[in-house]
Amino acid sequence: MTVSRILARDGASALDSLEPLHAAICATAQKPLASAHALPADAYTDEHHFAWECEAILKRQWLSVAHVSQLTAAGDYVNLDLLGERLTVVNTGEQGIKVLSRVCAHRGMDVMPPEFGHAQQGNCSAFRCPYHHWVYGLDGRLRGAPFMKEHPEVAGGELALHAFRSVVWQGLVFVNFSGDAAVITEQFGGLEASLGRWQLEELVMVADIAWDCAFNWKVLVENFMEPYHHAGAHHELFQPVMPAQGCWTDKEGEHYQVCHLPLAPSLQQKVQDGEPQLVSFTPMPALLADDFLEWTVYLAAPTALFFVAPDRVYWYRLQPVAAGRMELHTTMLVHPDAMDDEHYQQTLATETELMRTFHLEDMEMCSAVQAGLSSAAYRPGPLNALEEPVWLFQRYLARQINDAQQS
Ligand code: FES
Ligand SMILES: [Fe+2]
Repeated sequence: MTVSRILARDGASALDSLEPLHAAICATAQKPLASAHALPADAYTDEHHFAWECEAILKRQWLSVAHVSQLTAAGDYVNLDLLGERLTVVNTGEQGIKVLSRVCAHRGMDVMPPEFGHAQQGNCSAFRCPYHHWVYGLDGRLRGAPFMKEHPEVAGGELALHAFRSVVWQGLVFVNFSGDAAVITEQFGGLEASLGRWQLEELVMVADIAWDCAFNWKVLVENFMEPYHHAGAHHELFQPVMPAQGCWTDKEGEHYQVCHLPLAPSLQQKVQDGEPQLVSFTPMPALLADDFLEWTVYLAAPTALFFVAPDRVYWYRLQPVAAGRMELHTTMLVHPDAMDDEHYQQTLATETELMRTFHLEDMEMCSAVQAGLSSAAYRPGPLNALEEPVWLFQRYLARQINDAQQS
């Protein structure tokens, strides 16, 4: 569905009414970093703009939905709702991993409805719709429909659960709803040289925390990428070990950005003296010596977020729901060798608790920011140079607005 059609539900002028906001976003993004400002509140609170973003940005780009370690055997599946679509990400066996719609090809029932307690993750040999018991194979093809064997459409073998375009990149399954995003390596290939050393396809997801977030998806992306808040929100947890002042933002790609969080100089000295710091699990085997001197955050735009350390990767699954709401999974991936350590279970418990603690700090900040954005008193304030990733993200959004205007 086109942007104009979805917005037309609320009146033909809805798209026109977004022009001032889009012009304001582009004008903000055009400022040099030294005079950069936050975006107008409507960028985060306006439901029409959110509907526009869903169609013009989110559905047209690659969105990460699962990690391969969740889908190792034929029949393994992960279900999620994303941008109004009910999805199952499934290991089909012979046909690899697919992203299928859960909408039944009969009369539209969800073949695995969470409302009736269906597991969100598991293993199955087929999909059976609970309504009239149509059965689909793991590849999504209809295998049987009670009392309709002779029906030409059923017998013809063409009915199936819809398969969305998907690809596995760096161990993550990505979906593209529109079907016309550029090849994923054209968009994110510039990250492979560095992120590739973490060999994400080899890792195992060992923790997965679900959050119901009362804030806009961009509030999280901006918070995730900028290190300025280490000195505030994380002044106890991160500031002493990865001080904001030492962080720096890499050269951007058109569809990605990278921010480096070097360890404090005293910790770096210890690393160089042969004492790894902040390493609890078995480190990734293909890292370079310098990889032990920092943690790094990556954005594969618009929503794939990675926070990498020598011994773990945090990957975030974002599911924007409304202007002021998002479902979020924060996950932790480690190398399988880490599980052979005799203290592994204790380490995992400690690190999962730490993960929950620092995420809670971010959730509190982001929720309160969203409330502030809804206030009549909100004015976009000036950005610090350490918030360069926020400014880069504004420029990404402006490019998306310009692209949509030209298409
Ligand atoms: S709606 Fe699924 S079998 Fe009828
Ligand atoms: Fe944070």
